[in-house]
Amino acid sequence: MTRFGIVGGGLMGHGIAVALAKAGHSAAVYDVDPQTMATFHHRVGPALAQCGVPGSQAGPIGARITTVQALHDIVRDVDVLVEAVPERLEDKHQVMATLEAVAAPETPIWTNTSVLSITQVAEGMAHPERLAGVHWWNPPYLVPLVEVAPGARTDPRVLDEACDLLSAMGKTTVRLRRDVPGFVGNRLQFALVREALSLLDQGVCDPATIDTVMRSSLGLRWSAVGPMENADYIGLALTRDILGNLAPHLSTEKEVFPGLDKPLSEDRHGRASGAGLLPWPSGRETEVAERLGAGIRRNLADLRTVPNREW
Ligand SMILES: NC(=O)c1ccc[n+]([C@@H]2O[C@H](COP(=O)([O-])OP(=O)(O)OC[C@H]3O[C@@H](n4cnc5c(N)ncnc54)[C@H](O)[C@@H]3O)[C@@H](O)[C@H]2O)c1
Repeated sequence: MTRFGIVGGGLMGHGIAVALAKAGHSAAVYDVDPQTMATFHHRVGPALAQCGVPGSQAGPIGARITTVQALHDIVRDVDVLVEAVPERLEDKHQVMATLEAVAAPETPIWTNTSVLSITQVAEGMAHPERLAGVHWWNPPYLVPLVEVAPGARTDPRVLDEACDLLSAMGKTTVRLRRDVPGFVGNRLQFALVREALSLLDQGVCDPATIDTVMRSSLGLRWSAVGPMENADYIGLALTRDILGNLAPHLSTEKEVFPGLDKPLSEDRHGRASGAGLLPWPSGRETEVAERLGAGIRRNLADLRTVPNREW
């Protein structure tokens, strides 16, 4: 059993704690927000239920997770520290400084940043060699992938240990050769989001159409055959011809995103404000959460029936 200390008990810190406890590890969690701490354990049972864990096992798994009142309490008797606070560089720096002031210098720290450079997150650290990018996907107890990446000064042994530990938990662990903002997954995801916003800006279609196209075509394909295997499958000459014709028309926008800025300026922030790119009437949030969980579980069941063959 590895003993984890997690800073940030929001969506990801909570989900990571559940994933770790489900795999037999312990997790002590600290969050600055008392309300988040107060509701923490109420969120464990439903998360385990989504994983298909019987109610009788939920108690012992939940008991491996503790919440603590002060950050310095999580560094006591800990093997690995996990940072899961908001995606702001100054917040990450502040947490790293606090952790380094109280934790043993050799304790590894995993940052769950989505898109920040690991090298930048490590700026100002006394021991940047202990920091690894370990990027889980939401919900971390269901989605298999974890991306592991170094900063410029990360000790490769910290990455080795992270990959071994995650693989032993049954996670699909990929290790990047160098630090890039967004790892692989979010670069692919946001290249697609940028193109979708560009189609909206050009008046080509509405947001619901983007989702219909995605869910009825690429979404079906990509969990079975990835874009690289598919490029080979249809042939690289065709892939080259299509890209050569299409690339000049694809968005390269770096700063201006009216498709997001306009709804934001109108207080349409998405699910939580009742409207965003799409309407969010009462009931939609629950239906989407259930559909998302069910869809992931269905795809996971299919994935397990496909032999993971190395050609
Ligand atoms: N939401 C996702 O789908 C997702 C997926 C992968 C990675 N991430 C990344 O994970 C990180 C956390 O994201 P999230 O979605 O869990 O956010 P969140 O807002 O749900 O949770 C962040 C938590 O950190 C707490 N916090 C803030 N400052 C703190 C501090 N100094 N000490 C202790 N707790 C503090 C907040 O109170 C909050 O509960 C971000 O870097 C995000 O980019 C998010």
